[in-house]
Amino acid sequence: MLEGKTVLLGVSGSIAAYKTAYLASALKKLKADVHVLMTPNAVNFINPITFEELTGNKCLVDTFDRNFEYSVEHVSLAKKADVVMIAPASANVIGKIAHGIADDMLTTTVMACGCKKIIAPAMNTRMFENPIVQDNINTLKKYGYEVISPAVGYLACGDTGAGKMPEPELLLEYILQEAACDKDMKGLKVLVTAGPTKEMIDPVRYITNHSTGKMGYAIARVCARRGAEVTLVSGQTALKAPEFVHTVWITSAKEMFNEVIARAEDQDIIIKAAAVADYRPKQISSEKIKKENAQTGQEEEKILALERTGDILAYLGEYKRAGQFLCGFAMETQNLLENARRKLEKKHLDMIVANSLREEGAGFGGDTNVATLVTEDEEVSLGKMSKEETAAHILDKILAQMKSRGRED
Ligand code: CTP
Repeated sequence: MLEGKTVLLGVSGSIAAYKTAYLASALKKLKADVHVLMTPNAVNFINPITFEELTGNKCLVDTFDRNFEYSVEHVSLAKKADVVMIAPASANVIGKIAHGIADDMLTTTVMACGCKKIIAPAMNTRMFENPIVQDNINTLKKYGYEVISPAVGYLACGDTGAGKMPEPELLLEYILQEAACDKDMKGLKVLVTAGPTKEMIDPVRYITNHSTGKMGYAIARVCARRGAEVTLVSGQTALKAPEFVHTVWITSAKEMFNEVIARAEDQDIIIKAAAVADYRPKQISSEKIKKENAQTGQEEEKILALERTGDILAYLGEYKRAGQFLCGFAMETQNLLENARRKLEKKHLDMIVANSLREEGAGFGGDTNVATLVTEDEEVSLGKMSKEETAAHILDKILAQMKSRGRED
């Protein structure tokens, strides 16, 4: 995902430095060329050899105690960097960069970098809240640095408050957002739906399905990485809301209907990956339904009357504005392509992503999918691949379709 990308990690003196080792390792697994620069203080918290082993690159500590090659290396590194992250960023390093002080390998390199620079402050709460530090952070923001808010929690010094460096997974998201994809969706507004809906029967029970939301969340994440402005309307899932995406939570099909329709007009692309209930109980009992009949006291068979929910996608297809791209999903157990094509036509869609529950590697919950992209005149089968890769192919196809449609208009 980061093949061919150069990531510079700046590490300054803070106990959180050990977390950067996890980040360096995760970046390396995604095939980035990772270079770590440490302040002289940082080596008191973690040994440069750790980073050298993890990245396969020399860890650069300072400009003056090394040979000539290293003193020019920081400039060539600065030139080829795609993104720089300083994590942990101490109050000292923040202050120095904010005031143009470049007196070691890390600060001189950052000064020479033209790419995006991301700062993850990590320090004691009282230091973080100090107005001088806050002023310095604002100065960095003013110059286009992205500053990640520190997490709130128990700090190594024993205090509780803001100042903890966020976990490496979150730091990685910021780097991926910056460097993983070309921004070929910049300027586009995309609405994605994901996850299951829940239809209440009584205060205790509900009807739902096996959707975990993974496919829709992957689409939302990849859209954001490609520069789109993304809204995710999601049913209740066990997943964390994706970063850089505006997430709206819903429970029932009706709530999803209302939230999607309220935002539909504005969107350039709508992708409906949610597993929306087609039916809901005709009546929701306000009390828990008992096994026994209230009059006879006998246990009885129950028949649950169901009514149709509003079909969101069909509604969107009917009222679609010119130029809007509508993509549905069809999960089937038989006659995959016939059923998918029928839905494409009936709901006036531009594309439908068909996947079969019978196919190994497709379906609910897993991290892979096996999908076929069905458009008016084509069926493109994607092999088994991760949901993020499937998302990338879906988006490539949508952009290609929109482009060729633009040419026809
Ligand atoms: N969908 C929707 N609103 C509904 C039901 C489904 O927007 N009330 C969307 C889903 O998000 C998905 C597509 O429609 O993109 C699925 O089509 P659908 O015909 O509803 O398929 P199933 O729900 O699987 O129903 P069936 O196969 O029984 O026709």
